[in-house]
Amino acid sequence: MSCAHAYLPTHGHEGLFTLDAAEVTFGRGALREVGELARSLAATRVALFTDRVVAALEPVERARRSLVAAGLDVVVYDGVRVEPTDASFLEAARFAREGRFDAYVSVGGGSVIDTCKAAALYATWPADFLAYVNAPVGEARPVPGALPPHIACPTTSGTGSELTGIAVCDVLALHAKTGIASRRLRPTRAVVDPDATATLPASVVAASGFDVLCHAIESYTARPYTARLAPASPALRPMSQGANPWSDVGSAEALRLAGRYFLRAVRDATDHEARAQMMWAATLAGVAFGNAGVHVPHAMAYAIAGNVKDFTMPDYPRDAPMVPHGVSVIVGAPAAFRFTGASCPSRHHEAADWLGADLRHAADLHPGDLLARTLEGLMRDARVPVGLTALGYTDADVDALVGGTIVQKRLLDNAPRAVARDDLAHIFRAAL
Ligand SMILES: NC(=O)c1ccc[n+]([C@@H]2O[C@H](COP(=O)([O-])OP(=O)(O)OC[C@H]3O[C@@H](n4cnc5c(N)ncnc54)[C@H](O)[C@@H]3O)[C@@H](O)[C@H]2O)c1
Ligand SMILES: [Fe+2]
Repeated sequence: MSCAHAYLPTHGHEGLFTLDAAEVTFGRGALREVGELARSLAATRVALFTDRVVAALEPVERARRSLVAAGLDVVVYDGVRVEPTDASFLEAARFAREGRFDAYVSVGGGSVIDTCKAAALYATWPADFLAYVNAPVGEARPVPGALPPHIACPTTSGTGSELTGIAVCDVLALHAKTGIASRRLRPTRAVVDPDATATLPASVVAASGFDVLCHAIESYTARPYTARLAPASPALRPMSQGANPWSDVGSAEALRLAGRYFLRAVRDATDHEARAQMMWAATLAGVAFGNAGVHVPHAMAYAIAGNVKDFTMPDYPRDAPMVPHGVSVIVGAPAAFRFTGASCPSRHHEAADWLGADLRHAADLHPGDLLARTLEGLMRDARVPVGLTALGYTDADVDALVGGTIVQKRLLDNAPRAVARDDLAHIFRAAL
């Protein structure tokens, strides 16, 4: 099977890739080291970010105790909104600015870690909200300088936000999710303690686990880094470099682990082995996509989450309609991989195999289709909605969904084949 991922640089094209990751401490009990770590980064006054649910759980108390024991002044901010918005980012930034902190610790899921990144950014380098936001929604202005130290401690096995330079939010007036992307946003340290996921409800393990699967598959099937033109200077090499030998290692292992442990982790909160292995898979996939970048399913997800009408999900806040990030990504993924499968069949086949595909009839199926069917099986088993119809979308919404996706240029350019408006309309109809 032919595949575009041979990594053979040609004249004028990129031949180099960069290994970029935060320093990670991983393992059960790791949270007890947060205080010493913060002190080693010269912290004296620390903002501890979390959300209202996580604030009442053990991991926040453990991190707080460790910081206090290290002699640091700690102020907790529990106002993070789950699935943050531009307004909630700015609210958090106001807290950060007024508090005059010299370091940040975030304990929570991607919503908390992303909010902490944005708060530190706008408190340190104030600007209009859209200044740093990705183009074409915002101006994509470079972050002018370094941010204070940030120790990120995930409590979901999902986003990998503790390892990326990305902060995602919903721009309310535009019904569009988008983000800020800069290496300067990457947390200084990641402290990943699998014990923090013991209290996660099954639906959050499922949604955030599908985010992991898509980070890994999209990084593995992204346009190869050698397909980009060589940058004029190293500083211009993008954070989303495209698939490369470094991201391949993390993606492949994350998918192998997910194939073995994902459903076990969803079904049984007392299965510590499965939950710890999914935390490790999330870490590996976070490193992978932080370097390679994601593509079509994540680009679609931003429109799917941004245009939500009345969907809510058990175990997530239900005060307003909301599609959890992992659900918004996976729901379009089977149709997206049917489309991208043609460009690198062998990688789609491998991903399906690692996720436990039934290979008995594989010879009769295109690898994109094999991967799509494998994911649909996992979605049914993990009890997440299969198809956009279940989220309340109809054929009449396709134009709006395409419109919200086509502007995610950074992600679409990272796909293994060109994606036009018509292609997106076809993919969204297939995903209904
Ligand atoms: N920055 C990045 O690189 C990146 C990557 C992917 C996704 N994201 C963003 O991250 C957000 C999603 O983050 P997420 O999936 O980690 O979930 P989340 O932070 O939105 O949390 C989901 C729910 O689980 C609860 N929760 C979290 N930890 C818990 C625990 N240990 N026990 C019990 N309940 C707990 C939260 O209170 C919330 O209700 C989205 O906004 C998404 O766009 C960012
Ligand atoms: Fe994601």
